Amino acid sequence: MKIAVLPGDGIGTEIVAEAVKVLNALALPLEMETALVGGVAYDAHGHPLPEATLKLAKEADAVLFGAVGDWKYDKLERQFRPEQAILGLRKNLGLFANFRPAICYEQLVGASSLKPELIAGLDILIIRELTGDIYFGQPRGRRIATDGHFPGAEEAFDTMRYSRPEIERIAHVAFQAARKRSKRVTSVDKNNVLETSQLWKDVMVEVGQQYPDVELDHMLVDNAAMQLVKAPKKFDVLVTGNMFGDILSDEASMLTGSIGMLPSASLNSSNQGLYEPSHGSAPDIAGKGIANPLATILSAAMMLRFSLNQEAAALRIEAAVKKVLEQGFRTADIYSEGTTRASTKEMGDAVVKALA
Ligand code: IPM
Ligand code: MG
Repeated sequence: MKIAVLPGDGIGTEIVAEAVKVLNALALPLEMETALVGGVAYDAHGHPLPEATLKLAKEADAVLFGAVGDWKYDKLERQFRPEQAILGLRKNLGLFANFRPAICYEQLVGASSLKPELIAGLDILIIRELTGDIYFGQPRGRRIATDGHFPGAEEAFDTMRYSRPEIERIAHVAFQAARKRSKRVTSVDKNNVLETSQLWKDVMVEVGQQYPDVELDHMLVDNAAMQLVKAPKKFDVLVTGNMFGDILSDEASMLTGSIGMLPSASLNSSNQGLYEPSHGSAPDIAGKGIANPLATILSAAMMLRFSLNQEAAALRIEAAVKKVLEQGFRTADIYSEGTTRASTKEMGDAVVKALA
């Protein structure tokens, strides 16, 4: 089982080191190879996703990814910015299905900005389409407008587009995921305004007919954003497009108290996957040893489950994470009075210990 380890920028190196430590402690036949990605890759090789890194990722069974980005690259031309690395990996590996679970751990109910009764027991799964939509749609660019409100003015444009097969395949992913949970799917779109959303909704309904045991409902994205903070537990599986999914998954992450707890998986049709925490590179706290490694450790568990077929090992990691929370270990982002402050490394060590 070959894993490409891509720590990236900022806190990426610190949190990935802890996840690697946990993986090593499992004593499985895992072959791990590390490569540069993001800003550090740009600094070393002039590109955020060097050929060698892409090759390693393509040949691996799974990619364990940290985070990319730093303000110091903000002025670079877009193609050289660290974010292009993750977009390039998604595109080149065909990682169209993004799983972002939002689970509220019992011990962290108080860490959310929402009232405890709204989020206690929260367990929702956001499935975001990841290789289409306005993120990748062509054409895009800048030009001088020839029509619109200001002909002759400079304008910029992007293209929101979805094809039927792109929607069909993510619909199947959502319905199949729902079958393993409470058999409910909420499809989120903006069909009252957008053509892409109307096609999205039509295809969801069609594919849904193949899953009579799963209940499908539809919600407009603005309403979904509101319902997520009003009554988040009403959702179970939420499926949506790339752009809406980007926004709603950040919103959902905060329901759980800390974005530092949330893993994610991005899969292609052969179950090859990229696994990364839902949070970013947090350059403001990089190098201080205070970042929460649990999202990355939980991402490693998802990797074992989805790409490496090691369900038992995945469960072991998840149980160990629960245990360290019960024991009271807390990194700064989830610290509260009466708990034990842990550094990034201490948290990783505690998880390794809890595995046994
Ligand atoms: C995410 C991130 C990325 C995205 C950025 C870093 C390009 O926000 O994974 O949600 O927009 O998809
Ligand atoms: Mg995002």
